[in-house]
Amino acid sequence: MIKELIEKATAAKENAYAPYSEFRVGAALLTENGKIYTGCNVENASYPVGICAERVAVSKAVSDGEMTFRAIAIAGNEEYYCSPCGMCRQFMSEFCDSDFKIILARTIDDYKVLTMKELLPYAFE
Ligand code: THU
Repeated sequence: MIKELIEKATAAKENAYAPYSEFRVGAALLTENGKIYTGCNVENASYPVGICAERVAVSKAVSDGEMTFRAIAIAGNEEYYCSPCGMCRQFMSEFCDSDFKIILARTIDDYKVLTMKELLPYAFE
């Protein structure tokens, strides 16, 4: 399942709209019933208006009526592990319990698995 999520996150990166940073990110979110929602970063000429891949994936799922998630894979470039920004951590913590898995993928074979609790201890709830 981890490899499938990494593959889907990597594929989603292809649709990234990142003309300003030129840093493309893809995410693949697994729901409790096995559905996968993908997202990519979507930037804007007014820089703060842009949105990260993770929040796109979570928003697509929530807008589809899905609110319980098991894991998300995030693929940036292959040079280092792309870790979610603080805003995305808080956004995800709204819907994901402390055991939710966050997979930071450099390649299909090179990834780290962290929990929501590790990435955002003492989250505001
Ligand atoms: N970005 C993501 O989409 N997810 C992350 O986990 C980190 C950063 C995006 C935001 C922006 O479009 C670009 O990467 C550079 O910061």
